Amino acid sequence: MATAQETLPQAPSGELRATGTLDVKDSRTSKAYPFQILEGGVEGDTAVRAMDLRQIKTAPEEFGLMTYDPAFMNTASCKSAITFIDGDKGILRYRGYPIEQLAEGATFLEVAWLLRHGELPTQQEYEKWVQDITYHTYVHENIKTFLQGFRYDAHPMAMLCSTVAALSSFYPEANDIHDPEQRNISIVRLLAKLPTLAAFCYRHVKGLPFIYPDNDLSYVENFLSMVARMSEPKYEANPVFVKALEILFILHADHEQNCSTNAVRAVGSSQVDPFSAIAAGVAALYGPLHGGANEQVLRMISEIGHPKNVPAFINDVKSGKGSRLMGFGHRVYKSYDPRAKIVKRLADEVFKQVGMDKDLEIALKLEEVALNDDYFVSRKLYPNVDFYTGLIYRSMAFPTDFFTVLFAVARTAGWLSQWEEMLNDKEQKIARPRQIYVGYGEREYQSKLKSKFPQPKKDALRK
Ligand code: ACO
Repeated sequence: MATAQETLPQAPSGELRATGTLDVKDSRTSKAYPFQILEGGVEGDTAVRAMDLRQIKTAPEEFGLMTYDPAFMNTASCKSAITFIDGDKGILRYRGYPIEQLAEGATFLEVAWLLRHGELPTQQEYEKWVQDITYHTYVHENIKTFLQGFRYDAHPMAMLCSTVAALSSFYPEANDIHDPEQRNISIVRLLAKLPTLAAFCYRHVKGLPFIYPDNDLSYVENFLSMVARMSEPKYEANPVFVKALEILFILHADHEQNCSTNAVRAVGSSQVDPFSAIAAGVAALYGPLHGGANEQVLRMISEIGHPKNVPAFINDVKSGKGSRLMGFGHRVYKSYDPRAKIVKRLADEVFKQVGMDKDLEIALKLEEVALNDDYFVSRKLYPNVDFYTGLIYRSMAFPTDFFTVLFAVARTAGWLSQWEEMLNDKEQKIARPRQIYVGYGEREYQSKLKSKFPQPKKDALRK
């Protein structure tokens, strides 16, 4: 009979194994090259090593063949054991656990532990993790002064990005990224302080006093308290909102090698401190094609204005006259994004509590029209996670430009796990892609300038 130990799934080794050979013949030299096909993990991802191609040359002094892959459409930049996505089947798993099960039963901090350590925490590990993160929620008082330097209408993502980067100046010891203890405290600090920074950004824009963390509350409750508490001595969050935010944080916690995670890994590969690397992730997430899409979805919906305008809007998208259908399409998912399914159900629960969002009808109509239109069907464009999240956030009274900040708070868990995995991966070096140079050949410098130091023109007020 199998023992309990034997029935536990074995942690994958993380090694790539040779599974076959790819024979490539260079028509320029007629030389043939056998390349090893490597397979990793249990899901059967296969690849050839791009560096193997360098031996393909027509003369010894040549640099050798490179791969050309703008936007990394078909390049595995790392091995990772954290998140698995099957874009065709609409599957997302963290460390092997289906996202649906984690969203149903786990807490965000439990998932943050899982992402980082690869296994679910024991009770003891979890209590210490929660205790450590709760203990580090406060930020240095100077952060308040720093935030007050921003204009009243500063975008909260711009403020968040700068304050996360500024944290690195408060913890110079975090530069010692090879010391596991320093890495650990930096990870705890970042997870603990992100909600505080995010809430402070919110309060700054509103012109409200900053609310300090309440360490009696859970991670999500404390965040809502710092965002919304006014004169009451103790903030009591709406339990439906707490549950919804906990689930949304879990859904957003990681998504393998997306734009912002790639930014964190690339910047982190320079061996900079984690605060600076995570700030790079926040910057990447800000973009409208990435985390900024949830904000754009609501702007698009309010421009559409009424469900009857949806067909005309879709026609504009298809003809290229209008913008893209924001919240639709994904580089990896070529079927329904599994997170979007959970978010759609969650929206129903939240709307039961706070009443139907006036724009839900437009969103539902957009989805219906797009999913029945050959343009979207043939391109496999389905709603992504951002399509319905904005409506939920708005019903909780978060301002539109704050949506991506919520995403950033949650994604910090994934960024940090990916950053640490990268540091522990012996194969990783500083990220430094190659290019195919297509500019001029050498030419002689002949200046076109008459004066090298022209006087700047004075503006009208200084005449
Ligand atoms: N609306 C209309 N057409 C679209 C859309 C869209 N949302 N997305 C892709 N297409 C079309 C493109 O025009 C292109 O058509 P073509 O083949 O006729 O030229 C085709 O579908 C393929 O599009 P690509 O841009 O090559 O796909 P890519 O994988 O590079 O882009 C992306 C993925 C950026 C997410 C894209 O689908 C998009 O811009 N979506 C809208 C923004 C969005 O919702 N982003 C959030 C993504 S999820 C996240 O980051 C959390």
